[in-house]
Amino acid sequence: MAGKLRLGVNIDHVATVRNARGSAWPDPLRAALLAEAAGADGITAHLREDRRHIRDADMEALRAGIEIPLNFECAATDEMAAIVLRLKPHAVCLVPERREERTTEGGLDVAGDENRLAHYIAPLRDAGCRVSMFIGHDARQIEASARIGAAVVELHTGHYSDLHAEGRLDEAEAELAALRKGAALAHSLGLEVHAGHGLTFENVAPVAAIPEVMELNIGHFLIGEAIYLGLGPAIEEMRRRMDAARA
Ligand code: PXP
Repeated sequence: MAGKLRLGVNIDHVATVRNARGSAWPDPLRAALLAEAAGADGITAHLREDRRHIRDADMEALRAGIEIPLNFECAATDEMAAIVLRLKPHAVCLVPERREERTTEGGLDVAGDENRLAHYIAPLRDAGCRVSMFIGHDARQIEASARIGAAVVELHTGHYSDLHAEGRLDEAEAELAALRKGAALAHSLGLEVHAGHGLTFENVAPVAAIPEVMELNIGHFLIGEAIYLGLGPAIEEMRRRMDAARA
């Protein structure tokens, strides 16, 4: 089953750097085009409620300007549904959002909000978007995602990444085992499996090796590494490591 693994590059933090100075640069669209040229299979951008990085105009520019699929990440709010239905991106990834968090800290509680989310995603699906739920590896969340008719689940690798970074390798291994089990369950229910959050050159291989995982979405580390290597070479190196792990 382990076909080619896709790499979605998240360009949110290009906008973070731009917004720090209130200037027009660096431009997220230019980064997306560079990512595309370096072999990214898709571009992910998160339009947060507080617009702290990506802004509405960035989403419009990305939608019009890139050839590869756009994965529109957002909270399941009415405001975001209206924007998605206007732009009709290739994919929509629903994430939980809290204003005070620094990044998306946990997975979406699909099981606890099943009825509302089922109604929320129906028009997005009807508009042709592949709808993904960003969730933990918990079987309840995976089963609920299948029941509401999501096409994709993206498994949150943030906890694994944190454990790995702290050198708690036994615990990271246990977390990986749970991710593997979650990926197998999701696949058996007909869901396409993606994964992401906190992935780096050092920790990507075991996640890339999970055969049911079809796509990784990686942002913060790649944008940081672009400072040293350049964005294209950073993406190429990530791609090389993903492909090596897959082989
Ligand atoms: N996938 C989802 C759903 C996310 O929310 C994020 C962070 O915006 C990522 C992937 C990428 O995480 P990171 O920036 O840590 O690589």
